[in-house]
Amino acid sequence: MFPAATYQNRRQQLAQQLSSGLILIMGNDDAPMNYGANPYPFCQDSNFRYYAGIKQAGLSLTIDPATGESTLYGDDLTLADVVWMGEHPSTRELADRVGIEHTASRASLAEVLKKNSGPLHFLPPYRAARQQFLAATVGSTTASVDLIQAVVTQRSVKTAEEIAEMEIAVNTSRRMHHAAMEMARPGMLEAEVAGAIEGIAISGGGRLAYPAIVTRNGHILHNHDHSNPLQAGDLLLIDAGASSPSGYAGDITRTFCIGRAMNQQQEEIYRIVKKAEEDVIRDLKAGVPYQDYHRQASLIIAEGLTELGLMQGDPAEAVAAGAHAMFFPHGLGHMIGLDVHDMEDLGEDYVGYDAQTQRSDQFGTAYLRLGRALEPGFVLTVEPGIYFIPALIDQWRNEGKFTDFINYAALAAYRDFGGIRIEDNVLITDSGSRVLGEPIKK
Ligand code: GLY
Ligand code: MN
Ligand code: MN
Repeated sequence: MFPAATYQNRRQQLAQQLSSGLILIMGNDDAPMNYGANPYPFCQDSNFRYYAGIKQAGLSLTIDPATGESTLYGDDLTLADVVWMGEHPSTRELADRVGIEHTASRASLAEVLKKNSGPLHFLPPYRAARQQFLAATVGSTTASVDLIQAVVTQRSVKTAEEIAEMEIAVNTSRRMHHAAMEMARPGMLEAEVAGAIEGIAISGGGRLAYPAIVTRNGHILHNHDHSNPLQAGDLLLIDAGASSPSGYAGDITRTFCIGRAMNQQQEEIYRIVKKAEEDVIRDLKAGVPYQDYHRQASLIIAEGLTELGLMQGDPAEAVAAGAHAMFFPHGLGHMIGLDVHDMEDLGEDYVGYDAQTQRSDQFGTAYLRLGRALEPGFVLTVEPGIYFIPALIDQWRNEGKFTDFINYAALAAYRDFGGIRIEDNVLITDSGSRVLGEPIKK
């Protein structure tokens, strides 16, 4: 948690962006796993955390743009709550910690919203309970575009105190990856590695910033299964990051070989991915659209695969046509901050695109979450990868797709390869960029 002045300044800045009405930023409630008293680990709404700093369930915030003053809505614990959960600060004490002027009961929020006669600005409600509350209280679940844009503008540029938190997140993530590289060996389950690194995330004072990917099947992009035993020669792809105690995320990927050095086939693919990552990070600078860097990485991948005989023809033409997406079917990266995909709840296009930069509709590149020109203070991921996805290979081959650019016959030897991704978190500075955290082994 930052000093109260940080949150006061953030709310003041936001209030100045909205000329009238009332701003509502709702915190999260506990969400049940399988019955009410057995909740998922509590995850605060990131916008609420940004403007109110408080990591406790059952709270909401309003900001009056006319006065700049805020109200924290919440209920103090009953004696029965205290018996089960211990003493908690009162709503007034919480408000004082972050410089919020007024407090009111949770029930009074609905009354205030019903009485509000001007525009009500709220953010996209991504939880069903919040949608139901808004529908019942104000008769709408349609978020305010003005508020979305104001929040995106503010949260996109990280301050020095936020960057310090993100360094903590990356350094804990670094310890997770180094521990995994030390411990993973043939005969072990992926789950043993996953459990050990989750423990490190928790011992760092935060927790996993997102469900960890720890898999010998790295070609399945968001694979959360950890049930496989590891065999010598497997590539183990680990995409895992810790959150800092203040909730800022790290998002790091490494891929290494179990029980021995990579063989030539693995090494050749690894070198292409590494070059794509290193060249992009070397060239990152403010003013350049991130779409251009996605294209740069795609071209390095197509050139490398052409040298290996897996692709053919002119690599630039292959990338323009979208043939490289057989091997690199996701975006080069995304903004990161309090969320691993920062502000994705506000709408990817508001965060990653603007009037100058339109999202591509080409398979693969269409998944690029960040396309727009970079600015100093942005923190983003650079995460190229090469994957051999049997279902995708088979479908494109059966459709006769990109036969000018893809050497389908050569892919037979790669069907069991899996995938390789390397990912780091990078700050855009006035003079270029800086990778966050201490260097992590490749
Ligand atoms: N860890 C999810 C991602 O890299 O986008
Ligand atoms: Mn990422
Ligand atoms: Mn990741």
